[in-house]
Amino acid sequence: MRLFTSIDLPEPMKQKIDEICWGLPRIRWLPSEQRHITLVFIGEVNPSQLSPIAKQLKMVQFPEFELNCHGIGSFRSGVLWLGVQLDQNLRNLEQAIRYQLSELKALKLGSRKFHPHITLGRMDHQNPPKLNNFLALNNNHRFTFSVTEFQLLSSQLSPKGARHYAEQTFTCL
Ligand code: 2AM
Repeated sequence: MRLFTSIDLPEPMKQKIDEICWGLPRIRWLPSEQRHITLVFIGEVNPSQLSPIAKQLKMVQFPEFELNCHGIGSFRSGVLWLGVQLDQNLRNLEQAIRYQLSELKALKLGSRKFHPHITLGRMDHQNPPKLNNFLALNNNHRFTFSVTEFQLLSSQLSPKGARHYAEQTFTCL
């Protein structure tokens, strides 16, 4: 199974993001219910690992904190994203998860630099649409919300796209 840890977004924020997501050609917008912020990507593991992973994640301690999201950008892979401010609380949470998971020697966590973001859609990276008008309309949106929990999600890939399932939720101190 394919696992990752993530912060879910409040419903009103998902709805407001949905209102932004239109008007670009050659893009697959992400369905609203899949919008999230990936913390640590775990990857493909044997299902027997689920329980030890959840046990380690239970030991992650973090305070409630505010998260600011603004600025639109893209990765060369074609991911169009809304930026997430990487402040100390978010950094600490990502590192605490990474530390707890590193106790499980069977896991091979990637070393990709943490670049928190909310994927809006996936563009044709060989022929990406022009973003000027989209940015002019949307680059000033700002969202703030309180993080009180993170989740262990599993992701099932299919030709129709990925589906995410919450395996377990971990709350703040
Ligand atoms: P994305 O939104 O930028 O595509 C489930 O696949 C989640 O994990 C997605 O949010 C995806 O990021 C992220 N993800 C997929 N592969 C990854 C990898 N190798 N390293 C880090 N994050 C990854």
